[in-house]
Amino acid sequence: MSLESLYQQIILDHYKNPRNFGEAPGCAVSVEHENPLCGDHLKVAINVADGHITEIKFSGKGCAISQASASMMTETMKGRPVEEARSLVEEFRRMMRGDQEFAALDEAGEMEALKGVLQFPVRIKCAVLAWDALESCLRGL
Ligand code: FES
Repeated sequence: MSLESLYQQIILDHYKNPRNFGEAPGCAVSVEHENPLCGDHLKVAINVADGHITEIKFSGKGCAISQASASMMTETMKGRPVEEARSLVEEFRRMMRGDQEFAALDEAGEMEALKGVLQFPVRIKCAVLAWDALESCLRGL
């Protein structure tokens, strides 16, 4: 299997079976972001206790890239200290600008599947949508 089709499989898996997807009525902070290029919306909701993200969910509608990236983001962030989560959002942005290797943030070994997005600048906003929403949640704490 080529690397490209492996990446496609990873993205499709997260798209079809998104982790931590759904409404989160019990979450204290939630923020919805829109991708102005397509009008898709994505909401991220979190709970924080003792300086850690104890719960994180996302919901909304978007393309495979945005949903897969949101799914990976929630897996990466659950249980993280808030300060670490903030710097990981920055790291992800650097990765999506091509300024940093994906390996740095790729604990599950799946994030690299988003690397292909770098070739399509118009889709980068799709990939960062959930991360932007999380950052707004953290800003509201
Ligand atoms: Fe709408 Fe990607 S095309 S979020």
